[in-house]
Amino acid sequence: MMDKNDARARIEELTEQLNQHNYRYYVLSKPVVSDYEFDMLMKELEDLETRFPELADPDSPTKRVGGDITKDFEQVRHQYPMLSLSNTYSEQELIDFDARVRKAIGDDFEYVCELKYDGVSISLTYENGKLLRAVTRGDGVQGDDVTANVKTIRSIPLRLHGKDYPQSFVIRGEIFMTRAGFARLNESRIENGEDPFANPRNSASGSLKMQDSAEVAKRPLDCFLYFILGENLPFDNHYDNLKACKSWGFKVPDFMVKCKTIREVFSLINEWEKGRDQLPFEIDGVVIKINKFAQWDELGVTAKSPRWAIAYKYKAEQASTRLNSIDYQVGRTGAITPVANLEPVLLAGTTVKRASLHNADIIKALDVRIGDMVYVEKGGEIIPKITAVDLSQRPANAMPVEFISKCPECGTTLTRKEGEAQHYCPNEESCPPQIKGRILHFISRNAMDIDTIGEGRLEMMIDAGLVHNVADLFDLTYDQLHGLEKVIEADGDKKEKKISFQDKTVNNILNGIEASKQVSFDKVLYGLGIRYVGQTVARKLATHYHKMDNLKNVSFEELILVDEVGEKIAESVVNYFQSVKNIEVINRLKNSGVQMELKDKLETKSDKLMGKTIVASGKLQNYSREDIKEVIMQHGGKPASSVSKNTDFLLAGENIGPNKLTKAQELGVPIISEEEFEGMIGD
Ligand code: IVH
Repeated sequence: MMDKNDARARIEELTEQLNQHNYRYYVLSKPVVSDYEFDMLMKELEDLETRFPELADPDSPTKRVGGDITKDFEQVRHQYPMLSLSNTYSEQELIDFDARVRKAIGDDFEYVCELKYDGVSISLTYENGKLLRAVTRGDGVQGDDVTANVKTIRSIPLRLHGKDYPQSFVIRGEIFMTRAGFARLNESRIENGEDPFANPRNSASGSLKMQDSAEVAKRPLDCFLYFILGENLPFDNHYDNLKACKSWGFKVPDFMVKCKTIREVFSLINEWEKGRDQLPFEIDGVVIKINKFAQWDELGVTAKSPRWAIAYKYKAEQASTRLNSIDYQVGRTGAITPVANLEPVLLAGTTVKRASLHNADIIKALDVRIGDMVYVEKGGEIIPKITAVDLSQRPANAMPVEFISKCPECGTTLTRKEGEAQHYCPNEESCPPQIKGRILHFISRNAMDIDTIGEGRLEMMIDAGLVHNVADLFDLTYDQLHGLEKVIEADGDKKEKKISFQDKTVNNILNGIEASKQVSFDKVLYGLGIRYVGQTVARKLATHYHKMDNLKNVSFEELILVDEVGEKIAESVVNYFQSVKNIEVINRLKNSGVQMELKDKLETKSDKLMGKTIVASGKLQNYSREDIKEVIMQHGGKPASSVSKNTDFLLAGENIGPNKLTKAQELGVPIISEEEFEGMIGD
């Protein structure tokens, strides 16, 4: 039996090792042990902490998963006021800044240029090498105490390395989310029927202010440090101190470059602007700081910002242009999306002609009118959006936009559910874009994978009245398709061109449809396009209920008990099966030979993973997100999207989110690398 002293020593040793490994993983991105080894250490520490709870340190690496709930964040006064930076978009103002500095302190100084990280600023206080408190900027004088939440951010050290740090100091930086982390988070939000975040910055600040730190722990937050304040700092300048911070375990970015002249500064600004889109995180400019503290004192501060620093902001990827008209698009679910037609304008290197206006509420909130000059912006998303209207340029006769009341495609009166922003065309049955959209979704790669049809061919079949719904595909005959033609008006010379289905095309199409009858039930279910039922949920439902007949009769109350199924999804599934038309389509599909139950054996290459549930996450070298699921299934395994007690392995790729890792560690799920996985399947 281990006595208390042995336990204390071992706990200290494990804590030290785990902190080191965390640092190598989250700060340096250079792990030296396998995830499995890490996991074993963590498990040992957890066990010891359970056996000797009095020895458990509140800063133990086992505590990174959060758990504390904060109802109202306590207001804390900043020891040093949290100033902001004066900023500029103009080169001339930067030249003026340089001239002012030279006039005040002469030419004997250096600039330090850094990236301007686009996140939420945070102030951390360390005492005796331990993180004491984390406070948001607030109004600069006092902010919210978000310590419990910040402690879940793995790249922020809870204990510092070495011994050379000052006994007490404040360090500031930016909490942010990488583009990849943000994309993953939004993906899972959409899958769960939650609203996605607008951009990485909003999602970082939203995450930081959550009440449940265990939830914060699941968000892919990261933190760069760029400013240290205190009485006994080791050096007399910013640059060397930050390098020292790095050696104490802080994530200090490598983007720190000393410059002697404003010319050098400009060339950095230009260089970094070019590379900006390739960075894994978002930046909105460059921060230029004078290096020496003595010169900070000479230059002083204004009420709001220091005179020894300035931020040069990259032109927000924004432009102003005229709104010419609004189109209304009908999606496969019948959702109506208003789309702005703009006077073409150059924005971040591409010409923008259209922008999403999302829904009637947004149009109303913006009070945007036809003929208005509007600002368009490229945020974290690909489709630009209208962010504001320039009222000073509004044409005298511009009238508020009246949202359409009838479907632009089929004329049906639109509906809008209580509490929902989106208008819908309820004519699922015969509204052309809904029919086409549903069938396109059904034949898409991740569903039935009928790649011999495609949008153009499908349109021809719909126009000829051969298909109205997905079940009709399976009744198509050679004679119906052969000779089916379409006249295309050629562009320039306006010569007409005819395409018509010949023998080879028809056989291809029919073979593609025939082959799809082997596609597994989960994909069929996904292909039906039930609202909120994405691939993961479809797979969950298929594995849980096994066959369509079971799923058809399931109640809302039962459904919400299934892992990953929330109220929105459950309601949508129940609704779907209440429709007689949908049941009819499903019965026809079944009679045509489409898979309506999960066969025990999915297409297999081996049974090396038989009975194993594997979660793959992060970027893999040899497989796309889709491929890996396929490969797991082909070897008899079950791919899953979230780590649970039923998970056998977590296959960790590059940049895997910390939440999955922690969950796996918590549950004792072995974490394997891509190489180890390939070893397992004998590749
Ligand atoms: S230094 C007194 N350095 O930009 C100067 N700020 O208004 C303290 N920011 O609130 C800030 N990257 O949130 C500094 N490399 C960087 C930065 C940076 C982003 C943010 C920070 C600050 C705001 C400026």
